[in-house]
Amino acid sequence: MIKLRINGQEKQFDGDGEMPLLWYLRDELGLTGTKFGCGIAACGACTVHLDGEAVRSCQTPISAAENAAVTTIEGLDPQGNHPLQKAWRDVAVPQCGYCQAGQIMQAAALLKQTPSPSDEEIDTAMWGNICRCGTYTRIRAAIRQAVKGA
Ligand code: FES
Ligand code: FES
Repeated sequence: MIKLRINGQEKQFDGDGEMPLLWYLRDELGLTGTKFGCGIAACGACTVHLDGEAVRSCQTPISAAENAAVTTIEGLDPQGNHPLQKAWRDVAVPQCGYCQAGQIMQAAALLKQTPSPSDEEIDTAMWGNICRCGTYTRIRAAIRQAVKGA
């Protein structure tokens, strides 16, 4: 039995510990904000936090989340008003939207660790999150706005 804490709620999983955390979040808990993109840790669509660190849940076995705090986009802020989510709305970042939960979770982990990142630090933290719609300029603008407003 694997004990987990997902968005502050205690959960238990009785199954294959090698199963990707992403499947558990989406298929068993219905937390579908976290997306499946590549499945090989190369796009960032599935990014969640494990004890505050950004991880690719498609390549994180559920056993690695045992006794850790898992946060998904649904748990980032109860009202969806994390400074990054507000900035994302102000800047109207998304196009199709598919990559955006992963982008926000990646950025949130950055700001937790580095509250006032330089442009270079933003680029370094965000380079692995792919957006097929090419919203990169707006993503960076929204991160900068969230930093100013925080
Ligand atoms: S789906 Fe996990 S990194 Fe692409
Ligand atoms: S908004 Fe479409 S993939 Fe990023």
